[in-house]
Amino acid sequence: MSDPRGLARGLTNYGDADFSLYLRRSFATSMGYSREMLARPVVGIAQSASGFNNCHRHFPELIDAVKRGVVAAGGLPLDFPTISLGEVFLSPTSMMFRNLMAIDVEEMIRAQPMDAVVLVGGCDKTVPAQLMGAASADVPAVQLLAGPMMPMAYHGERLGACTDCRRFWAKYRAGGLSATEIQEIEGNLATTAGTCAVMGTASTMASIAETLGMALPGTAAIPAVHADRLRAAEASGRQAVALAAAKLRPSQIITAKSVENALRVLLAIGGSTNAIIHLTAIAGRVGVPISLERLNEMSDSTPVLVDLKPTGQHYMSDLHAAGGVGAVLRELKPLLHLDCLTVSGETLGARLAAEPGWVDRAVVRPLDDPYQKQGGLVALFGSLAPGGAILKRSAADPALFEREGRAVVFASLDDLAARIDAPDLDVKPDDFLVLQNAGPKSGYAMPEAGYLPIPAKLARTGVKDMVRISDARMSGTAYGTIVLHVSPEAAVGGPLALVKTGDRIRLSVAQRSINLIVDEAELSRRRAAWRAPTPPPTRGYAKLYMQSVLQAEHGCDFDFLRKQEPTA
Ligand code: FES
Repeated sequence: MSDPRGLARGLTNYGDADFSLYLRRSFATSMGYSREMLARPVVGIAQSASGFNNCHRHFPELIDAVKRGVVAAGGLPLDFPTISLGEVFLSPTSMMFRNLMAIDVEEMIRAQPMDAVVLVGGCDKTVPAQLMGAASADVPAVQLLAGPMMPMAYHGERLGACTDCRRFWAKYRAGGLSATEIQEIEGNLATTAGTCAVMGTASTMASIAETLGMALPGTAAIPAVHADRLRAAEASGRQAVALAAAKLRPSQIITAKSVENALRVLLAIGGSTNAIIHLTAIAGRVGVPISLERLNEMSDSTPVLVDLKPTGQHYMSDLHAAGGVGAVLRELKPLLHLDCLTVSGETLGARLAAEPGWVDRAVVRPLDDPYQKQGGLVALFGSLAPGGAILKRSAADPALFEREGRAVVFASLDDLAARIDAPDLDVKPDDFLVLQNAGPKSGYAMPEAGYLPIPAKLARTGVKDMVRISDARMSGTAYGTIVLHVSPEAAVGGPLALVKTGDRIRLSVAQRSINLIVDEAELSRRRAAWRAPTPPPTRGYAKLYMQSVLQAEHGCDFDFLRKQEPTA
């Protein structure tokens, strides 16, 4: 068979293809399918429901709706489990396992007989992992998002994970809430199925999936518990059957142009810093490089249009009610490549031309009257970060943007935990807090630890923000003047490893620079004395991870999974 379809694809190898197909059909018959069903195009459903993933707890219902759509369009839906990554249930951090999930998704799409696949994910790392895997497998694919949680009323205000989680925790640390009060708030932050309710990493990646063209138009922001989410699932199942016939592949959808569109949207929504890493990794799977210099150019010409936490005031469900990602895309139209194909089979331009014009201006501002004049993210370079670093300026305090400060250094996460609240810690409000050894190869796998807490003794005096610098990541729901993803990281001997308490560091957001003010002779002495902080793991996935993970500017993908080797 020159172009096998359905169950005849990718036969198990017994040395006799006819026997393999005969055997596969007979075993599939044992699942109760009729011959007519077994002859249909097969749509795989990569599903990531798990008892360890609260964000995906509605997936059984969602997957039923996908199957309904596949059957209605003449396909055979077959779901299969993959690894799930529940953000708060994984140690040392979900980031360590994103690439493992991407490998799982890629290999199971390739190894099993499917003509198309619906990727059902939502929590932070699951959507990037699914898009990375699907891009590499390059079988027609539709991304179906979990959808955001609903914020809920509590004592007269709306609460939603997880910007509010951090706000209340900071208040508790500063002595503004009792243990009983914080316990009561804990029970009211995340109250429905779905992903974090603000423009955190999950919502950012959902918006990026729709902008790339990998999710159906209008589906990114639909709340998880809204009936429209089920209709989106049904439509995704239907569309997967159409994609199987059209053979429209991820590599035709994820292109240099659609990646640039996704970067525009990331900036315009004040999206998560994590999304830079994930989008770089996804694009890397189809050989599209993302440069941080290009990010800066685009950031200067892309205003923040969306008023959502943590940058603004609203929640993701408000964005849905305000017109969704489509409303943002329509505003950005003059800046977008409109000829990009989407999984709907139409171009982005055709999609936007056909959409109704409703938009709630309290949530999505017009291009000529934006929420903030410049994009949410900037890359910084300099002697402290030759490979780059990221600052989310839309969620930072501009009063701290042009500063020189004294470094107060923590050598590791354990050191940070042991000393940050010590009454005798030598720290002042205008110092720069520096965390070392929290990058991809640190042994902690680049956790979301870049949001260093304000030392308790300063927090109690009312200090709410300080310049904080690390090679770690930060939750997309966090805020503050926080320099992240410093590269090369400390654990491989990058300049960050050489910083000592008392050194001066100069930050200039205007100049896009971050420099360590220490003379070269002294740095050479420190470099000669530097030793790697942890012995490398000797077995299992941890060993593979440590051997293969790339630095942040290459998306923290594994070197052998990118389509092209990184040039740096
Ligand atoms: Fe799953 Fe935030 S914990 S998206």
